[in-house]
Amino acid sequence: MKPNTTGATRTVTAVSRDVCVVGAGYVGLTAAACLSHLGHRVHCVESDPDRLATLVAGGIPIHEPGLDELVVAGRAAGRLDFHAEAGPALAGAQIALLCVGTPPQPSGEPDLGFLAAAARQVARAANGDLVVVVKSTVPPGSCEALELICAEEAAPGILIRVASSPEFLRESRAVADFLAPDRVVVGTDHVDVSDLVASLYPPGSAVVRCDRRGAELVKYAANTFLAIKISFANEVAALCEALGTDATTVLAGVGLDSRIGTAFLRPGPGYGGSCLPKDVDGFRSVGDALSAETRLADAAVAQNADARQAVVSKLEVVLSGVRGKRVAVLGLAFKGGTDDTRDSPGRHIARQLVTGGAEVHCYDPLAWPDDTCGTRERTLAEAVVDADAVVVTTLAEELSSIEPGELASKMRGRIVFDAAGALDITSCTAAGLTLYGVGRGAPTEFHAIVWSPLRWAHPVGAPAS
Ligand SMILES: NC(=O)c1ccc[n+]([C@@H]2O[C@H](COP(=O)([O-])OP(=O)(O)OC[C@H]3O[C@@H](n4cnc5c(N)ncnc54)[C@H](O)[C@@H]3O)[C@@H](O)[C@H]2O)c1
Repeated sequence: MKPNTTGATRTVTAVSRDVCVVGAGYVGLTAAACLSHLGHRVHCVESDPDRLATLVAGGIPIHEPGLDELVVAGRAAGRLDFHAEAGPALAGAQIALLCVGTPPQPSGEPDLGFLAAAARQVARAANGDLVVVVKSTVPPGSCEALELICAEEAAPGILIRVASSPEFLRESRAVADFLAPDRVVVGTDHVDVSDLVASLYPPGSAVVRCDRRGAELVKYAANTFLAIKISFANEVAALCEALGTDATTVLAGVGLDSRIGTAFLRPGPGYGGSCLPKDVDGFRSVGDALSAETRLADAAVAQNADARQAVVSKLEVVLSGVRGKRVAVLGLAFKGGTDDTRDSPGRHIARQLVTGGAEVHCYDPLAWPDDTCGTRERTLAEAVVDADAVVVTTLAEELSSIEPGELASKMRGRIVFDAAGALDITSCTAAGLTLYGVGRGAPTEFHAIVWSPLRWAHPVGAPAS
């Protein structure tokens, strides 16, 4: 990576531009709405006919706080429109942002087919020189490959330069993140391209300028680090369970060190979603391709698989088997505040329980899973009625504000497995519920080895007094 340290402090004048955005998902639609809010004229291309029809009709196909207001305002101001084809969206635009999916393949490498198709599409439709900015998450070297594809497809005389500017927004706070990013990363070897890309973002954003491979790796490395942090928290939580102490408090004690930070240092059912699992696998694939070890990333993946499985295994123990038991799974999105169920721990847990013979009734305030997760109930109350056990998998607001007494009055059994740490142990106990969690309290039935502090008082091999 060749960071341009002088460039990092360059100031770029904000100019309103015509911008083409390809893909209207979590990243593309957020970018399109926010860029129009910042004064740019944004022309968004979406290939899914249903999603496009929703957008054209004034609807919003995803749940993201604040997004609908920005889309409505952008359209009303004539600064945001939606198209099926790149041609009309590129008219007048010098710059096109590619925001299409890069889903995982069984090999762990991302499928770059959608991105290559999008690059072809804009290159063929370009009627002047164009800067293509890859916002999708890709392995290092992808932008170089996409530039070759664009050169093959573009009309003679048209120069298409491809830059990397990965997106770091978090679902459920995507608009706020886009409008006030921790940093913006711009990867290109051309100063004019770097200035053009940086000028799109909110004025005053911290911009890290580097080459394309470096920018692409920043995204993979950031997500891999977050996954490692979550897995580390779950590793500490397993020790806390064995020791009979509380992981939330221990991890707060760790994370309040300003060198460490509390974010992502919570015990839970493992990480999920459309990004972390895919990007950690992508990071490992890069290591494989370069014959470089990725031991920490490998360990995070193994730990995460255990963290998900542990919830089901512990339920098997406390319910003396799940077969025939009625279990409510609350939380099917990969976290609270989103409707995104891609690779979510809640779905994984619900499916495992269904496979194990449990009667699963599931609920999420925003998400609707496929029908492999049992029966999707319309309300939380319907999901928990007559349940032998309730599992909570996310910190969705509605789940964190469950009233334990009300829950107890609806359930048949007493067991609540709060994998997300959403509920208060004291009030659950007071309501007659038995609360299990990740790294909480001392459920000794999970541990064959009972820890003895005497181990330290009488070290192995010490002479008996
Ligand atoms: N979701 C996140 O939180 C997040 C955050 C940062 C980065 N990313 C990365 O950004 C990329 C996009 O993620 P997403 O979650 O927005 O995906 P998404 O699946 O929600 O959206 C992708 C959209 O692109 C559309 N599309 C695909 N090919 C197209 C084409 N040729 N022309 C027009 N539209 C096309 C799809 O129909 C879909 O609507 C991925 O690489 C992802 O890893 C995602």
